[in-house]
Amino acid sequence: MTFKTPPRPCASPKPNLSGRLLHMDANREIPIDQDYEDASGEISAFDESSRTSLASSITQYRYENGRRYHSYRDGKQIYYPTQGLRWLRSRIGQYWAPNDDQSSIVDTIAHHIFLLTFDDKLFLAPLNNPKRALDVGCGNGIWALDFAEKYPETEVVATDLSPIQSPVAPPNLRFEIDDCCSAWVYPENSFDYIHIRMLFASVADWPALYRECYTHLAPGGYIEHAETTPITKSDDNSIAPGSMWENQGNLALAAGEKFGKTFVQIIHMKDQITAAGFVDVTEVRFKWPVGPWSNDQKLKDLGRWNMHMWEQGLEGWTLALLTRVMRWSYDQVKDWLRRMRATLLDRRLHVYQEM
Ligand SMILES: C[S@@+](CC[C@H](N)C(=O)[O-])C[C@H]1O[C@@H](n2cnc3c(N)ncnc32)[C@H](O)[C@@H]1O
Repeated sequence: MTFKTPPRPCASPKPNLSGRLLHMDANREIPIDQDYEDASGEISAFDESSRTSLASSITQYRYENGRRYHSYRDGKQIYYPTQGLRWLRSRIGQYWAPNDDQSSIVDTIAHHIFLLTFDDKLFLAPLNNPKRALDVGCGNGIWALDFAEKYPETEVVATDLSPIQSPVAPPNLRFEIDDCCSAWVYPENSFDYIHIRMLFASVADWPALYRECYTHLAPGGYIEHAETTPITKSDDNSIAPGSMWENQGNLALAAGEKFGKTFVQIIHMKDQITAAGFVDVTEVRFKWPVGPWSNDQKLKDLGRWNMHMWEQGLEGWTLALLTRVMRWSYDQVKDWLRRMRATLLDRRLHVYQEM
């Protein structure tokens, strides 16, 4: 579904700024492939044949339960009550997913899923030779690398908490370590395009971030926010009350709330981008099946890759949130992950994510 707000007078000094918001088509039901559901045997998203100059402190990573986490801005703490009415401190950090190679693999799979979704396009905004572009929270930098290569005349800045980007990059791309939630130091009006992707539960104050984007975009510039959520849905009651999928969604909501950063920014982004002063805000919605359960070939392919992403990503998405924020033991998380992985492989379930 695409819709555009009608052009309207704008009190802001930069009436040409536009917003493009990407999340999903909630109206179209995903068609189901009965053959997939009826088949038996081992299931995996892919069978074997188809799987084919920084300050030193920012690399002094936190290692926990076998995973590696960012160190820059890692000091954020919360207090939680214990049985004896004592309050204990937990250092939860600014961000909850690991920054190791496994996480980078997951981000690379996600990049592929976005390309499948957008029919090989890197963005949907109607860009016209942007001079300067910013990628906020770039992860391993895969989107920025592709974008900079495609637009060699565009000066691209890509920022993240972790220095995990490729040391080899086109000359028009610069990676910077920065916390996007701190006041921005770029001059006003310095970008023509700002790209944000998959920063769910990464930002406590989204309206403030969108205002920074507005201030730092030149007149006529575009913001594009492509977001998803780990809260899954089904159109046929595949997510039964009390099921692991329901439990997973509730846990993500609770952990996000306790952490102070929502996992459902997709619900708020259009209104908040509009409130920041952007005009002609366009929202495009998509569905990502979890698993190849649709008989629509594009959605089947997408679902296969998405299931692969869940298989590879589940531990990293949950481990720190469940231990640091929800105060589970590592063993409890391991047991939950075992049950969740089994659920992921259940062919009867027609679960999808919004994007
Ligand atoms: C799920 S990854 C997405 C990476 C990238 N945008 C993409 O789509 O491939 C989220 C990234 O946001 C970064 N991040 C989280 N909070 C941040 C913050 N406050 N400032 C900058 N980057 C942040 C994380 O370090 C992580 O690399």
